[in-house]
Amino acid sequence: MKRTHHCNELSTENAGEKVKLIGWVDSIRDHGGLFFVDLRDREGVIQLVFDPSNAKLGDVHLLRAESVIEIRGTVTKRSPQTINTKIPSGAIEVGVENLEIHNICDVLPFPLSGPQADSVSEDLRLTYRYLDLRRRKSFQRLQKRHWATRAIRKYLDQNGFLEIETPYLFKTTPEGAREFLVPSRLNPGSMYALSQSPQQYKQMLMVAGVEKYYSLARCFRDEDLRADRQPEFTQIDLEMSFVDREDIYALTEGMLQAVWQETSDIVIKTPFPRLSFKDAMDRFGCDKPDTRFAMEICDFSHAFAKSNFQVFASAVENGGCVKAFNAKALAEISQGEMNALEDTSKLFGAKGLAYIKVENGQWKSPIMKFLSDREKEALAEKLAIDEGDMVFFAADKWERACTILGKIRLECRDLAASKRKITLSPDALNFLWVVDFPLMTFDEEQGRFVATHHPFTAPVEEDTDLLQTNPQAVRGQHYDIVLNGMELGGGSIRIHQPQLQEYVFKKVLQIPENLVNDRFGYMLKAFRYGAPPHGGIALGLDRLVALLCATGSIRDVIAFPKNQRGVDMMSQSPCPASDKQLRELHIKTML
Ligand code: AMO
Ligand code: AMP
Repeated sequence: MKRTHHCNELSTENAGEKVKLIGWVDSIRDHGGLFFVDLRDREGVIQLVFDPSNAKLGDVHLLRAESVIEIRGTVTKRSPQTINTKIPSGAIEVGVENLEIHNICDVLPFPLSGPQADSVSEDLRLTYRYLDLRRRKSFQRLQKRHWATRAIRKYLDQNGFLEIETPYLFKTTPEGAREFLVPSRLNPGSMYALSQSPQQYKQMLMVAGVEKYYSLARCFRDEDLRADRQPEFTQIDLEMSFVDREDIYALTEGMLQAVWQETSDIVIKTPFPRLSFKDAMDRFGCDKPDTRFAMEICDFSHAFAKSNFQVFASAVENGGCVKAFNAKALAEISQGEMNALEDTSKLFGAKGLAYIKVENGQWKSPIMKFLSDREKEALAEKLAIDEGDMVFFAADKWERACTILGKIRLECRDLAASKRKITLSPDALNFLWVVDFPLMTFDEEQGRFVATHHPFTAPVEEDTDLLQTNPQAVRGQHYDIVLNGMELGGGSIRIHQPQLQEYVFKKVLQIPENLVNDRFGYMLKAFRYGAPPHGGIALGLDRLVALLCATGSIRDVIAFPKNQRGVDMMSQSPCPASDKQLRELHIKTML
């Protein structure tokens, strides 16, 4: 069945040659007597010409789009009027002499090309994912993913890393994402948990003396799904011994440079800028700032501390703050758009969303009557307020005020882009590191501290003493890497001293002693047998490839993704297990 060429390999230079081609029928046109078929394979498309009066080609009438055929024929130049400049092989065609049909395709559930192809519902596309993947765009995305992983493997190999697989069947651990449990038939009543990440094993590999490990590891997390979250996803996971944060930054930047160079021929500039968590929150209202547009948030707590507007003054008095940003040129948003912004702010705990808009040279706002000239001057000076601008305020506790305006800022980005007030360049690659996160965050619901990254993260050395007196003030040696407002990866320098790790588990995070011993006892023990200082990072491969392919959904760059409800539409998984299977696993369902 071997072909002589892929469809993209033929040109006018092959005119007169006999060729054998295999592929899919892309389209069929019946031109009264002559049949034209566009034949497509993985690499390209070429036009075939059938003369059905040739007895050997009578079956051509049976063909439908997406049938699989094999032909033999002769390459001929097209006449100048019939040249198709849209495809590379448009100056030639193949006169078919022999046709073999390998598979006739049923009527398609949706068109694979043409204007309607992009409006097909995602669930339908995922049900027939093998058809969806035949689309050129889909194939190119899989190809780019392959190029990216090839570049990553090459780079890490050159830097002395070993690729090592770690178990997917792990044990359930507190403090992480919700896990998928796997009942063990051989150990009735006991469960494995599918690994959320190779975190603990990669640390054990450092204790084992490997020094540089990496893996393109599948991770499993039973989370609510979004465009950038799947229940199983892939991490570029790595760990190194005898390093500090600077080593990890440099290595990661070099790896991303190699990826963009080899997949897209783009040279990215390093080093990436760094922002402290506090600055990121203060200026952009989130820990993964999108810096492709301005609309920076400013603090006006001082200016409004004695304001006549009670809401602002009392926020400051109660230890909170007043923050605002200029949603440039958005005074003209509709009432509906304004309501949607207010709804968003409420979702994140806002009691209101005060605003000022500038129309016909006038500042208009329900709070105008409360504002003094000094307050107006402070706003005008810091926010560079012009005709047509819109300013939004949040007066609240620091973190909440930042978060609210951070969300509103992102919605204003989308509004401004849709109204063509700003353009987000498709070529922008705004990488940055967010550093100096607090090691712990106080969880109001649980009434205790939880690790901001994970409980293995080392405190910044000079803050270690504060662990006992003021845990909230301790910074972690944790870093996140962000691209265009998406968290691409995160990691940290780890704790490698057993006493400190035990203190963090038991005293700071207040994990009960028996649980610490049960779940983390082996780690604490390993750290007593010569554990080297170590640290690492994990980058979301799916997110990275989605950004490389300029698509907003990681489902587009995963061969067989689950939909928003966690269902693989093609195979209809998950599905109920049989009674026999459940009995073997000692499981009773309650449904
Ligand atoms: P973290 O939990 O921050 O760190 O995960 C690292 C990166 O993995 C990606 N990611 C996801 N991608 C798709 N779907 C998901 N559900 C999902 N969850 C996470 C993100 C994220 O930045 N062991 C640590 C790393 C370390 O400390 O070395 C870890 O897993 O891009
Ligand atoms: P009020 O006087 O309560 O009607 O509030 C006047 C304006 O301030 C309204 O536009 C409210 O949405 C807004 N507002 C109220 N509380 C806050 C707050 N905590 N932060 C920002 N704006 C607020």
